[in-house]
Amino acid sequence: MSALTIDRIAGALGAELHGLDLTRELTTGEVDALYAAVVQHKVVFLRDQPYDIAHLERLTVQLGGHGHTPFLESIPEHPGVVKVVREADEGGFNFGGKWHSDWSFQPAPPALTLLWSVEVPPTGGDTMWSNQELAFDTLSDGLRTTLAELDVVHSAGWAYSADGILARTAKGRSMRINTSDDALAEQVHPCVPTHPDSGRQTLFVNPTYSVRFAGWSQADSAPLLQHLYEHSTRDAFTCRFRWTANTLAIWDNRSTQHNALDDYRGHRRELHRTTVSGLPPTR
Ligand code: SIN
Repeated sequence: MSALTIDRIAGALGAELHGLDLTRELTTGEVDALYAAVVQHKVVFLRDQPYDIAHLERLTVQLGGHGHTPFLESIPEHPGVVKVVREADEGGFNFGGKWHSDWSFQPAPPALTLLWSVEVPPTGGDTMWSNQELAFDTLSDGLRTTLAELDVVHSAGWAYSADGILARTAKGRSMRINTSDDALAEQVHPCVPTHPDSGRQTLFVNPTYSVRFAGWSQADSAPLLQHLYEHSTRDAFTCRFRWTANTLAIWDNRSTQHNALDDYRGHRRELHRTTVSGLPPTR
């Protein structure tokens, strides 16, 4: 087994990993060490890994198997592998450009996401992540006690429904997205699940897919949810990653949110993404 070295990139979360060669199949020990690093650092980056779709698929399977990918068309012959792309001459906003954790509206949201860069802009197009364990830990005792007993309703409606934001801005988009009113289905999760691997409590709300607290109206929920969205993405809880081509990022969706920055108009950006299946969040 090759030696894995870890360089943290920020105080709150994120680390660059060195010592793994993804062109060959990782040993069980290497996969376990990689998974443990993702859980500990919440997002890890492996630079200078020549992109190969077969290697992305192999690693996804080794880390736990593909999650279900709704709404986004997969690359033909490669189910579950999605091309996240915006062309240099394309208008509209970028994919993933609002804080979220991936597919939090699913009964069992993905444990991990893998995102491998193929082509990135010379400047701009960074991605940010935020540590949701730290976000929860830094709330006041009273609010933590209250939130720990609440459930949150999640839905993909705002983004993916037939009149959602992605349908309304579809003109000229090169990403293949199938919007549908299936997106209006609702899913309830604890506001503060316990991470199945770390055993730590984590705040599990995000402004893209969280709709309201279960049993509360949207109007009653909005002020507290807005407070949590602002608190959970405070600068001090985040890291920001500058991509180079052939870099693989792997993040833990159970303990992070992420946000793709839209500051690279006039340049092409292409990354390939898979998710690793997860468990239903529980207290
Ligand atoms: C995503 O939200 O999955 C995309 C992130 C990115 O393009 O940086």
